[in-house]
Amino acid sequence: MKHLIPEFDLMRRRFPPEATPSMVLPCLHRIQDDRGFVADSDIAELSAYLGVQRIQIEEVLAHYTQFRREPIGRWHLQACRNLSCTMRGAERVIEHLSGRLGIAPGQTTADGRFTLSTVECLGSCGTAPVVMVNEAYHENMNAERLDALIEGLVK
Ligand code: FES
Repeated sequence: MKHLIPEFDLMRRRFPPEATPSMVLPCLHRIQDDRGFVADSDIAELSAYLGVQRIQIEEVLAHYTQFRREPIGRWHLQACRNLSCTMRGAERVIEHLSGRLGIAPGQTTADGRFTLSTVECLGSCGTAPVVMVNEAYHENMNAERLDALIEGLVK
């Protein structure tokens, strides 16, 4: 995280001194963008840098599920399992992805290419079922479309 300190210093200029704890969230986003996840060492260094208690950072990490605490694969497949997606086949989508990739939700393939997660509503209920791959939405998914998606990622 140390190489991000100059960026954080610039950010800090936009925050009044009493609002320093509010920097936790944007700093964590930047750390995750940089490393792919937030490591224990990042928490310790950010705590020291901002002068906030470690528990304040841990609370933010626990609250916002988009933060990852472990490395993930090159492609992060997040399958929505909330109501609209479930009504339109999310279970079949998740089973298909698990079978195709040979991993259960929460796991990463041995080659480090794919991580499969299940998530709550992705805010695209009208095009359910939805799978997010990194930052991109893939909508109205079915077995055929999932196979085409994975084939495109393997290349
Ligand atoms: S329930 Fe899946 S996107 Fe809303």
